[in-house]
Order: sequence, then structure tokens, then C-alpha cells
Amino acid sequence: MEKRTFQNLDVESSLLGFGCMRFPLDKNGKIDEPLAEQMMDDAMAAGVTYYDTAVPYHEGSSEPFVGRVLEKYPRESYLLATKLPCWDVNDKSDVRRLFDMQMKKLNKDYFDFYLLHALDLGRFRKMRDLGVIEECEKLKAEGKIRFLGFSFHDNYEAFEEMITYKKWDFCQLQINYMDQNDQAGLKGLRLAESLGIPVIVMEPVKGGQLAVLPDDVKAPFEKIDSSKTPSSWALRWVASQPNVKVILSGMSTPAQVSDNLNTFTNFKPLTQEEFAAVDEVMHNLKARVKNGCTACRYCMPCPAGVDIPGNFAHWNGYGMYENRDTALRGWKNNMPEEKQAKNCIGCGKCETVCPQQLHIREDLKQVQATFDGLLKE
Ligand SMILES: NC(=O)c1ccc[n+]([C@@H]2O[C@H](COP(=O)([O-])OP(=O)(O)OC[C@H]3O[C@@H](n4cnc5c(N)ncnc54)[C@H](OP(=O)(O)O)[C@@H]3O)[C@@H](O)[C@H]2O)c1
Repeated sequence: MEKRTFQNLDVESSLLGFGCMRFPLDKNGKIDEPLAEQMMDDAMAAGVTYYDTAVPYHEGSSEPFVGRVLEKYPRESYLLATKLPCWDVNDKSDVRRLFDMQMKKLNKDYFDFYLLHALDLGRFRKMRDLGVIEECEKLKAEGKIRFLGFSFHDNYEAFEEMITYKKWDFCQLQINYMDQNDQAGLKGLRLAESLGIPVIVMEPVKGGQLAVLPDDVKAPFEKIDSSKTPSSWALRWVASQPNVKVILSGMSTPAQVSDNLNTFTNFKPLTQEEFAAVDEVMHNLKARVKNGCTACRYCMPCPAGVDIPGNFAHWNGYGMYENRDTALRGWKNNMPEEKQAKNCIGCGKCETVCPQQLHIREDLKQVQATFDGLLKE
């Protein structure tokens, strides 16, 4: 198993970490515990030492499940990460209350890695102003947290403010070959490196979107090695970036565990030729977008309440990956009725300001038809 050292923390981890957010489910939608336990055991046996959970995963059942499975292993043989649910913190006294609950749920007396969960700029400032970071530092001084960091979802500027606020032990970023310039992006990864702050990566396979690619898109991979899965390419691309210490993969089947263990057991960084193949695949995917919306938001606000860039993001995502289930899940979860394209009144105000000169009204009709069609299938 490929390993990495966090030089600043004097700790070593497997490069592959187990993201405990996507366990297989039984027919009632609960974690399929026997199967998920087998997957964790297989990972442990192959040398995976990092396990990442959080309060909301599997509607609260990931933490107790993970805690129970890890019971059978010596505490020092693995690194356990969990996160402060910042959205439930409105006073600094909430920190210890929530932390104590997590310790009970996981049945552990310390966590190796503890993160302020899913910080965007607003949430970060709220946590900072409430004194939450100092409360976490106290838990660290008491030996209940070994290393303190945060997980991040916002843009580069927000990242810069957060990462330079203090000498964090580590941070967790969404990095994959399609999101090189999104969120903190590669620029953020480099900034963290320059500050001596190691990075743990989440969503390396873009939440599964890079696992299944249309044939014409993945042709550059197949030309080099048709025996390797698209996921293995996505994981190796991330693993070939400097300052990446752990790559979290949320595996949902034993076959995925086995494929990813294989990727990291015989790990080889990408060669120049392989980097070029990933670039080609990325361009192939980007060429499949339905329209050229760049989400500049000049078109907003829409007088009819339509979230124009949001609708196009879903449509373009479906165009690129052709992944019906992921596209529908995103549409249902993140596109409320009142913001859907169908509310367009055809006033055309958006088209007068769109820098890309998109035919927004026509495209919105197609967005709605696409998702209505998918819902009927
Ligand atoms: N802190 C935060 O804010 C935050 C946010 C997101 C995630 N996380 C953590 O980071 C972890 C990783 O993120 P993620 O789960 O989104 O990672 P990911 O690796 O980008 O996506 C996981 C999905 O990729 C697919 N996959 C992975 N390996 C595969 C393989 N070998 N073959 C085929 N498909 C494969 C599976 O999709 P299917 O299930 O569709 O088959 C799997 O569910 C999470 O599990 C969680 O622990 C943290």
C-alpha cells in the first residue's frame, strides 16, 4: 500500500483513505452492515489506515458503524477522522457538547484528525467569531484531537482567507482532474504546500462522475491501457500531485474497494504521456457541454426566479457524463420547482446581458425537456 508522511505532524498514512459516506445500502436504505464491514476489513487488511466519517453521513449512522467496526483493531493501527457539524454550532459551548456526543457515538477517547466540516466563507467567519477554533484548540491541548483542520467548499479567494488565518495542521479539498480550476483548485493546493499545510483530497472521482465515461471520451485511456478503469486514472491523477497525503474514496461496492486497493498497492505516478491522456479526456468531456454557460451570473436575477446558471450546470453535467442517475439525483436535490427552467416567461432580459451570447430562452426549454424526459424514463 502506497504511503505518505505528513512531515509537519510526524505521522504516516496510507495514500488511499476510506471515505465512510457511500457505504452499500440494504433494501431499507440503511448501511448494509455485513457487506460494508467486509469492505472495511478488506481495506484494513490491504494496509488502508485512514478512515473518514462525519455526523451527517448515512443519516447519522456512519459514525457509530465505523466506530464499531474499528473496535476490533488496535487503536494506534488506524487514523480516524471526523468533523464538527458547524451548521449546528451557534455558540462556542456547542463545540464540546457535539464533540462529546461524537466520542460516545464512535466510542473513542480521541480522534486523530478533526475537521470543521464543509466551511464556506460565511461559515468560517461565523466559527472564527464565535471562538470555535479556540475551543477545538482546547480539545487538542487535552489530547482529544491530535490534528485540527477543516474541509472546504467555496472559491479560491475564500480558501486563501481561511488557510492563512492560522497554521492549520491540514486541510481537506475537493480535487479531481475536472475541477482543477474550481473551488480551491490546483492553485489552492499549491498555496497550501507553500504554507507547509498538507492536503487530504475528497471527491477524487468527482463523486463517481469520472468512474463511467462514454467510449469516445475515454478512448485516450484505452489506447494506453485498456485494462485500467477510469476511476484508477482519476485517482492516479490526484495522487500524482504534490502535497497530497491522503485521497479519500467513498467506495460503495467490494469491486470498487478491490479496484482502488489495486491502484494504490501497485501505485505508479502518471507519466508525461499519461498526463497528456488525462488532459485529452478532460477536453473530450468539456467539449460535450450543451452550452457555454460560464456561470458569470450576468443574467441574474431572473425576473421569473429561474436559476439560469444552475439549470445550465445540471444540463451541462448531464451532457458531459451522460450519467442519468447522478444527473437526476442532482436535479431533484438541488433544483427546486420555483427555480426550474419551466418558470421562464420569455422576457429575454437575460439574453441582452449574456457575455457568451447564449440563446438562453431556447436552451432553458431544452433543459426542462431533458429533465422531464429523464424523470419519465
Ligand atoms: N468534508 C466534506 O465536506 C466532504 C464532502 C464530500 C466528501 N467527503 C469525504 O470524502 C470522501 C470521498 O468523497 P467521494 O465519496 O465523493 O469520493 P469519490 O471517489 O469522488 O466518489 C465516490 C464514488 O465514486 C465511485 N467510485 C469510486 N471508486 C470506484 C471504482 N474503482 N470503480 C467505479 N466507481 C468508483 C462510486 O460511485 P457509485 O457509488 O455511484 O458507484 C463512489 O460512490 C467521502 O466518502 C467523504 O468521506 C467529505
